[in-house]
Amino acid sequence: MPCFKPSILALGIPLCILTALPAFAQVSLTVDTSRPGAVINKNVYGQFAEHLGTGIYEGLWVGPESKIPNTKGWRKDVVGALKDLHVPLLRWPGGCFADEYHWKDGIGPRGKRPVKVNTNWGGVPENNAVGTHEFFDLVELLGADAYVNGNLGTGTPQEMAEWVEYMTSEGKSSLAELRAKNGHPQPFKVAYFAIGNEAWGCGGNMKPEYYASLYKHYKTFLKAPPNVLPKFIASGGNDNDSSWTETLSREAAHGTDGISFHYYTLPTDKWEKKGAATGFPESEWFSTMSNTLRIDEHIKRNVAILDKNDPQKKIGFYVDEWGTWYDVEQGTNPGFLFQRNTLRDAVVAALNFNIFHAHADRVRMTNIAQMVNVLQAMIITDKDKMLLTPTYYAYKMYVPFQDATSLPLTLANNTTYGANGKGVPGISASAARARDGKLYVALVNTNPHEATDVTLDVPGQAIGKVAGQVLSAEAMDAHNTFDRPQAIKPAPFSAQAAGGKLTLKVPAKAVMVFAVEG
Ligand code: AHR
Repeated sequence: MPCFKPSILALGIPLCILTALPAFAQVSLTVDTSRPGAVINKNVYGQFAEHLGTGIYEGLWVGPESKIPNTKGWRKDVVGALKDLHVPLLRWPGGCFADEYHWKDGIGPRGKRPVKVNTNWGGVPENNAVGTHEFFDLVELLGADAYVNGNLGTGTPQEMAEWVEYMTSEGKSSLAELRAKNGHPQPFKVAYFAIGNEAWGCGGNMKPEYYASLYKHYKTFLKAPPNVLPKFIASGGNDNDSSWTETLSREAAHGTDGISFHYYTLPTDKWEKKGAATGFPESEWFSTMSNTLRIDEHIKRNVAILDKNDPQKKIGFYVDEWGTWYDVEQGTNPGFLFQRNTLRDAVVAALNFNIFHAHADRVRMTNIAQMVNVLQAMIITDKDKMLLTPTYYAYKMYVPFQDATSLPLTLANNTTYGANGKGVPGISASAARARDGKLYVALVNTNPHEATDVTLDVPGQAIGKVAGQVLSAEAMDAHNTFDRPQAIKPAPFSAQAAGGKLTLKVPAKAVMVFAVEG
């Protein structure tokens, strides 16, 4: 079969992307469609937007008076691009910010709202222009569900209870009337409500037992009509500490939908010097792959605890902050956590998606940090301009996996990338039956130098052709800039099978997603 080289050549990838090869292919992927697994909850593709740097102000919110085209203050260009990702869920207002956020500061006429200092993020003024009503405008524009993170650290049970009442009350209470006066007579739909954030750190430096008591205390007073009662989330642990999952799943399980978990990928694994976002050495490409793949161990360890304490699987394991965290871009406010986003980030995202899919029965929500201009962002803005990052494209390519049914697979003869006993799997794969009835497969090649041949076999199904998209580039740190906003983007591909089987050449450092057709 002849090589098919679509617009990938424009990306400078000097590879024949797809070819039907004989049986000497290295890696063999078998998808078992006869034993469907758990549904991949669409909320695995959730996002996170915090009052941090230009993540909300500038990046998303410009205000209704801005010359930048907007709807109710939210940028049309950014919201339009995000809609293409089918963002299912948006977490707000933090993060660390949440535990210093007082919701009453963010309602009523914008000009009269108090100005506070964002003590967590750069010490800049926070004028509260974006508050509860503006947030719900945004989720409505996106067609997403709302995940509101409450203030446990510096709030009170009364303040938190009143916020839930303000958002959800259908009755004639003064708070419901105030919400109507502020422009929203109907209750807001709060899909999820978290009680605090990172209680082990910026949320109050607590011990899990103390937080568990506080969680139960606060949650007692969070009331709403049954049809609009949010699902409650307990703020859990991190990669260094699974005692949070242990304690919370024992002590605070009743009426709790999920326990959260945060894991960030740092190239060096050192918070003091994390590693650069661009211009990094191959050793940091490797360590980033290796470090991000460790989330699998963390999930397994925590899920084992949940399986012991919650065998009926009522509690979800919600990775509500994850992504890459690099040294902040030189010349920017260190408190704004702005970093460039490259092909490496897209590969990291796809590796994480494949792991989340493999744990779909417990990992029913994740929220990447963060949506715009902060950490591993989908979109970067500069005044009236915006660009889409490689991570954006990874999310877009994986849209068919939202609410798809995961399928077991085996990868035989997988390659290893790395040396001296420190290798990582060369190929990562995931497969699912999507809601459109099609079988989708995702492949990731962690090796930045070598393409890998992968033979696809779906017992019981003769493969006719595959068609999808591939994201790769020549440089490990390929990224889009305002001068070259299309430097890296996915390219379409398709390939015919021979004899019911198909062998793909997966380019070096690539993400591929495709549908399998008969
Ligand atoms: O995402 C940035 C910060 O990382 C969040 O505010 C906090 O929860 C975490 O430490």
